[in-house]
Amino acid sequence: MLRLSDIRKTYRVGPTTVDVLRGVDLEVNRGDFVSIMGASGSGKSTLMNIIGLLDEPSSGSYSLDGREVSAMTDNRRSAIRNASIGFVFQSFHLLPRLTALENVRLPLIYRRAGGAEAGRRARASLERVGMADRAGHKPNELSDGQQQRVAIARALVGGPAIVLADEPTGALDPTTGNDIVNLFAELNGDGTTLVVVTHDPEVAHRCARHTHIDAGALREETAPA
Ligand SMILES: Nc1ncnc2c1ncn2[C@@H]1O[C@H](COP(=O)(O)OP(=O)(O)OP(=O)(O)O)[C@@H](O)[C@H]1O
Ligand SMILES: [Mg+2]
Repeated sequence: MLRLSDIRKTYRVGPTTVDVLRGVDLEVNRGDFVSIMGASGSGKSTLMNIIGLLDEPSSGSYSLDGREVSAMTDNRRSAIRNASIGFVFQSFHLLPRLTALENVRLPLIYRRAGGAEAGRRARASLERVGMADRAGHKPNELSDGQQQRVAIARALVGGPAIVLADEPTGALDPTTGNDIVNLFAELNGDGTTLVVVTHDPEVAHRCARHTHIDAGALREETAPA
């Protein structure tokens, strides 16, 4: 479903260059549940941003659902990002003035989905993460774990091919983090494809596949390092 081959990413800062990714290969198939671990600064977020079409590699090829995305225009890639990818971040990234329901509905509005239908789908997505009873709450009226559930509902609402989560439990206490991991496992059981960046071996342990990024390369492991 998703194939990265020899992905390289070099940042230039003033006179120096930093080779963050030095030839990453990764294949993710439908229904996979993949963890990515690695030291701080090893390039995990850089890689996730490339997979999520938020950033472009310096070189290498990336095909998503059989389409080579590295050669596409920004507009085309934005359209594919909106339709095919759900993001979950460490700090939730909910819009503070909008209710939970409005936050979840937002990706559909960007997609120009109809009003009543968008509302119905947003409600169903909130229900799926156990947050239907908080639909009218603003983010500051929700606990951290509840905010992350709403963010997950937003990631799922468009029926993405893949959900990318960058340290989704990093801002949560262990119990709440565990609830979120349980939710991911449940979603994966229903067929959702997930890639999860984490520093927490216990979180990685719950994923079905484990990878580790080191010295700019990604390797597959049998168990979280
Ligand atoms: N826009 C940028 N310009 C220059 N260098 C960058 C940029 N973004 C990231 N880097 C560098 O790339 C390296 C990888 O950063 P990245 O954010 O991908 O690491 P990470 O593995 O996600 O770390 P963490 O676990 O702390 O989140 C770092 O050395 C960072 O300084
Ligand atoms: Mg990071």
